[in-house]
Amino acid sequence: MPDPLPRQLPRWSELRPLLQLAPPARRAARVAGAGSIDDLRALARRYTPRAAFDYVDGAAETELSLTRARLAFERVEFRPRVLVDVSDPRPATTILGRPAALPVVLAPTGFTRMMHHRGEFAVAPAAARAGVPYALSTMGTVSPERLAAAQGDDGADRWFQLYLWRDRGASKELIARAADSGFRTLVLTVDTPVAGARLRDVRNGLTIPPALTARTLADMARHPSWWLNLLTTEPLAFASLTSTNGTVATLVDSVFDPAADQDDLDWLRGTWDGPLVVKGVQTAEDARRMVDAGADAVVVSNHGGRQLDRAVTPLEELPAVLDLVSDRAEVYLDGGIRNGADVVAAVALGARACLVGRAYLYGLMAGGEAGVERVLEILSADIRRTMALLGAATLDELDAGSVRLRGTCA
Ligand SMILES: Cc1cc2nc3c(=O)[nH]c(=O)nc-3n(C[C@H](O)[C@H](O)[C@H](O)COP(=O)(O)O)c2cc1C
Repeated sequence: MPDPLPRQLPRWSELRPLLQLAPPARRAARVAGAGSIDDLRALARRYTPRAAFDYVDGAAETELSLTRARLAFERVEFRPRVLVDVSDPRPATTILGRPAALPVVLAPTGFTRMMHHRGEFAVAPAAARAGVPYALSTMGTVSPERLAAAQGDDGADRWFQLYLWRDRGASKELIARAADSGFRTLVLTVDTPVAGARLRDVRNGLTIPPALTARTLADMARHPSWWLNLLTTEPLAFASLTSTNGTVATLVDSVFDPAADQDDLDWLRGTWDGPLVVKGVQTAEDARRMVDAGADAVVVSNHGGRQLDRAVTPLEELPAVLDLVSDRAEVYLDGGIRNGADVVAAVALGARACLVGRAYLYGLMAGGEAGVERVLEILSADIRRTMALLGAATLDELDAGSVRLRGTCA
């Protein structure tokens, strides 16, 4: 008896929607026409395999920390001053003594070449052109030397982010290499004694490098240009780590040192002459401890919700941190920044600058360097417009009176 449901060759009309082959010009036009970070996020989702998109978009466990970071920004209510001259809003500032065009730093993010094959080579020049610092991660996919050589003398403010490894000698060697390559600021991340439980990565079976499983092979048909770029450029690997096989969590747990403590910060302060930023501070008392130990700045951050779920919400902890350390150190904030108004709100509440992570990675996934550039254009336009509407011609004119958090004030 003939099979009532025989197999047939796929028809092009059926395959075409699955392939999503956007001609490069159309994709570039979509990126250039994106009006918000959310638009770029939608493009990123479309052009990037799910495991890579989720690695960026996801957070730890129930993802409550990230949700709450966003909710805190949604509680922001601006209190504009009217009839003031805002014909030329100027969002320039200084960050650790150097001029920055915006109160923004591109945060360190690992495994960047998974988002787009050009990875850090696409992010760094966009940051330099926009006049904001960019922090290269210890988990980066390009070494400090290669990034510095590719950038040349473009005036970039280069920061290097450090995770303390079990092997202190190797950590010391790495920061010496960063210093020799012209990275002027060291960022020590302190919220990662062990890997957070990023459940999307577990469900997606994300490994480094990506394994060629049946699922990834099927994905090739849906994201052909991403795969083509991956397979025709140098292998995707961490540039500063020698052991690179397995999941991010196994790697973090084998290389990072959960025994790192205050003595290590003292050691680092004695080793590194330049500005030292401690990132991942989540309480005011810890901020004071870090500044007492010689930190020049702290980042109130819970790693974008990727480590301890239900950790303190940075925007809500900011005032207490400022109370204890703002006379001795700069205070930055990150987590959930998705538009320039978020940055303005954080600055009004006292942050010197905001680090942004996912926002620029969405741009990178959507369109490489042009996508990161678009993110920075959007943030810059948002910040200027919000300042003008708020009645602040300079960042100094923003203060706690410019903003309140609904739910805490009348
Ligand atoms: C994909 C990804 C990778 C990250 N890798 C690192 C890292 O290697 N080192 C680090 O200190 N922080 C890392 N972070 C945290 C960011 O530096 C930053 O704290 C966080 O992204 C801020 O939240 P946001 O993404 O909502 O802006 C990473 C974040 C993301 C999204």
